Amino acid sequence: MEQQKNTLADQKRKTVETAEFTEDGRYKRKVRSFVLRTGRLSEYQRQIMNDNWTSYGLDYQNEPFDFTKIYGNSQPVVLEIGFGMGKSLVEMAAQNPDKNYLGIEVHTPGVGACLAYALEKGVKNLRVMCHDATEILRDCIAENSLGGLQLFFPDPWQKAKHHKRRIVQPQFVENVSQKLQSGGFIHFATDWQNYAEQMLDVLQSMQSAVGIRNVSSTGDYIERPDFRPLTKFEQRGHKLGHGVWDLYFIKE
Ligand SMILES: C[S@@+](CC[C@H](N)C(=O)[O-])C[C@H]1O[C@@H](n2cnc3c(N)ncnc32)[C@H](O)[C@@H]1O
Repeated sequence: MEQQKNTLADQKRKTVETAEFTEDGRYKRKVRSFVLRTGRLSEYQRQIMNDNWTSYGLDYQNEPFDFTKIYGNSQPVVLEIGFGMGKSLVEMAAQNPDKNYLGIEVHTPGVGACLAYALEKGVKNLRVMCHDATEILRDCIAENSLGGLQLFFPDPWQKAKHHKRRIVQPQFVENVSQKLQSGGFIHFATDWQNYAEQMLDVLQSMQSAVGIRNVSSTGDYIERPDFRPLTKFEQRGHKLGHGVWDLYFIKE
């Protein structure tokens, strides 16, 4: 009985997560790149978020952000999608005070952990959001406004029937490219070979249409760059004996 109750609750949750309505009220399904994990904010994280959201957090809005106003300067803005617990993002922000960072993550405890670490390290050039990054990209980021986009170890959705959930798709690359300034970068990394191949296929096939260029001297992947700190998922992949593939493209 208990199990049946859970199954029904799971189904309901799944429906809510994937439901979206058109303007005329018709129901349409939405394929998302994530399933919301349960996970509680610790009391400490909740306190940190409540006390610091006005300084470090940004909320969804249906017009583009004014980055100069948000960061108080006009340094390039690097957007990171799906930062997990945010450790590597905070380290990058600390190492690159000449850039601004915007991190987006749907998993609330991850956002809390990231904020706590940012405060501990005293970084000022970072803002975080708790929202679906594809919607933020679509609605809150102006064209030609980003210095870079990084996506490290996105959920690989290993089964073929789930590949449609992978965030890297032609439409995604088109949206990202539109938001990049000339000279801005796209940096993807994954420890799942089949996803690395899909990323490369999508990026290569969109190259001339969206005006991006692969910097790899071998025409595919680059060596893991020193400036990318080891992420939590990458470390987990290492323990499992996975390889790592980095892809780096520049907008012309
Ligand atoms: C496999 S984890 C990797 C986390 C981190 N980058 C790392 O390497 O440790 C992928 C993360 O992306 C987040 N995510 C997936 N789709 C997202 C979306 N559309 N918007 C924001 N976050 C997303 C998930 O919640 C998850 O925390």
